[in-house]
Amino acid sequence: MSENAGQLQGKVAIVTGGSRGIGLAIAATFAREGATAVICGRRQESLDRAAKEIGPGVEAIACHVGRPEELARLVDQVTSEHGRIDILVNNAGTNVAQGHCLAIDDGQFDKMIEVNLKSAFRLTRLVAPGMCARGLGSIINIASISGLRPQFEGLMYSTTKAALIMMTKCHALELGPKGVRVNAIAPGLIQTVLSEYYWKDEARLTERLERQPIKHLGQPEEIAEIALMLASDKASYVTGQVITVDGGAMVG
Ligand SMILES: NC(=O)c1ccc[n+]([C@@H]2O[C@H](COP(=O)([O-])OP(=O)(O)OC[C@H]3O[C@@H](n4cnc5c(N)ncnc54)[C@H](OP(=O)(O)O)[C@@H]3O)[C@@H](O)[C@H]2O)c1
Repeated sequence: MSENAGQLQGKVAIVTGGSRGIGLAIAATFAREGATAVICGRRQESLDRAAKEIGPGVEAIACHVGRPEELARLVDQVTSEHGRIDILVNNAGTNVAQGHCLAIDDGQFDKMIEVNLKSAFRLTRLVAPGMCARGLGSIINIASISGLRPQFEGLMYSTTKAALIMMTKCHALELGPKGVRVNAIAPGLIQTVLSEYYWKDEARLTERLERQPIKHLGQPEEIAEIALMLASDKASYVTGQVITVDGGAMVG
């Protein structure tokens, strides 16, 4: 590798939920470091816009992560175009079930499991065999500090993120001997569309920041740099871990 080559030179990555927010920042960071990052989301137009914004190194393929046939098509397309997938970032997530724990209905329960948890289970099952066959791969699941401690009126968000953390550890245990590392990142509050409720209102944001030692509102790029480290060879001895990136909120 030349001295100027990026940390992910020549690698092929899939980043789910890459049209905005944390996924977009991860894709941009991977592309900066020489990878081809394939972003997916439900809308082709917003993906195309995002890919154009980042520039070379990013490709856009529409895919609803809750639909198994679309996941299979995504993996087939990337594999046939690029020959392999080296890095998988299970980032797409939703919170359509905010509310009192006794008011959550079956539909909300199923949707949250489908998008936040089962998508990572299905994609790992599709992508990891190729990684195992080549003896090399990195899978990164974007969890949340809400998976480490309960979130008020966030029963399904916390439940799916806690399960994703345990799934990360189980996959790490079984895939490690085949050369595949599996880790999770647990972000705290990051400024994206998903978390608007918590940062748009100044009083609510101030109250939130008072409880954490690092006093700024987290930015998607601050998650992306940790994802880069986990994806790269610099983390060759790291698997089954949950890296909390929360401005210290969990110790505050
Ligand atoms: N922001 C925070 O404070 C925070 C904190 C902890 C953890 N997280 C986690 O970080 C991850 C990214 O969140 P974010 O804050 O960046 O959210 P965001 O700004 O709302 O972005 C979510 C991304 O996921 C895509 N997406 C949503 N549903 C999808 C589906 N069914 N299939 C495919 N793509 C889908 C969206 O694109 P389309 O809508 O076009 O499909 C978008 O690209 C999530 O897993 C979230 O739980 C965020």
